[in-house]
Amino acid sequence: MRALLDKRLIFVTGKGGVGKSTVAIALGLLAARRGLRTIVAELASQERVQQTFERKSDSFREVEVGPGLFAISIDPERAMEEYLRIKVGAVGHVLSNSRLFHALAMATPGLRELLSIGKVWELAQFERRSHGASPYDLVVVDAPATGHGVAILRTPRTFADIARVGPIAHQGRTIASTIGDREFTGVVAVATPEEMPVNETLALHESLAREDLELDAVIVNALYPERFDGEEAADLASALAKTRSSLARSALRAALSEHARARRQREQVERLREGLSTPLVELPYMFADQLGRAELKALTDALEAGLALEEPVRS
Ligand SMILES: Nc1ncnc2c1ncn2[C@@H]1O[C@H](COP(=O)(O)OP(=O)(O)OP(=O)(O)O)[C@@H](O)[C@H]1O
Ligand SMILES: [Mg+2]
Repeated sequence: MRALLDKRLIFVTGKGGVGKSTVAIALGLLAARRGLRTIVAELASQERVQQTFERKSDSFREVEVGPGLFAISIDPERAMEEYLRIKVGAVGHVLSNSRLFHALAMATPGLRELLSIGKVWELAQFERRSHGASPYDLVVVDAPATGHGVAILRTPRTFADIARVGPIAHQGRTIASTIGDREFTGVVAVATPEEMPVNETLALHESLAREDLELDAVIVNALYPERFDGEEAADLASALAKTRSSLARSALRAALSEHARARRQREQVERLREGLSTPLVELPYMFADQLGRAELKALTDALEAGLALEEPVRS
């Protein structure tokens, strides 16, 4: 199987708040660092990527946020306008100005997702449909939380099945075959080492298997360091039992509770490891109020080490 960064399209998914956007950004930074012209595409207009790089403008545009790294926030309505403009010309123009048409289109189940994923697909083409747009080596998709994450991968095929003939069916089939192509498309799951995110990742693994898809990597994010071994922890506990100083007591309690947390996290990592065939990549918890450039660089380094990359893929 091809290495992760040799793919053209990577979906980063996982439960809400586990660090999908952070991992998508770190993957983008890593790919760009390795010489790939890369774009991180956020679905559902979260605008996390632009915020991180302190860029604030029309986010449906492809904005360069660093050397070789671009970002876009994909809004389905804007994706539809673009699609209509490019595909159906003058008629599209009339339709895209019709508020009724917009309302109907956005209320059609699955159409928002099809339009969003259609735009992602367009970004990943060597021959871009958008006039004058340059191709990317890699598109990293910051996908919505799991559940939706897999649904979005299934959308094009669903549309192809419903429509059977005509442009939507054709488009749906083209996108579905690209997404189904493991050489082209990869799926990365992110989980924090806690019960619920681990359960969801295991469930995602199963439901992808039913679609004949597989996780290409699983990222365990925000892992606490194991500072003490069992013996040291026992020493801390007995010191806590003895000391009368309230300062020492609260310091010891803090150390012991972090130790217990690190332990519980390791148990969850083991559950993941046993339930999956995919290698795990561990990313440390960053002790910082906000993840700034230094923290992102550290996470990018950890990702690079964890993915065990060899020579830069392309230069
Ligand atoms: N390794 C880490 N260490 C410390 N904080 C982290 C780490 N990874 C992510 N965070 C923080 O956790 C929060 C959630 O991260 P992020 O926004 O990447 O998650 P998400 O899965 O994209 O969330 P959502 O489902 O809301 O889109 C953010 O405040 C982020 O800065
Ligand atoms: Mg996010």
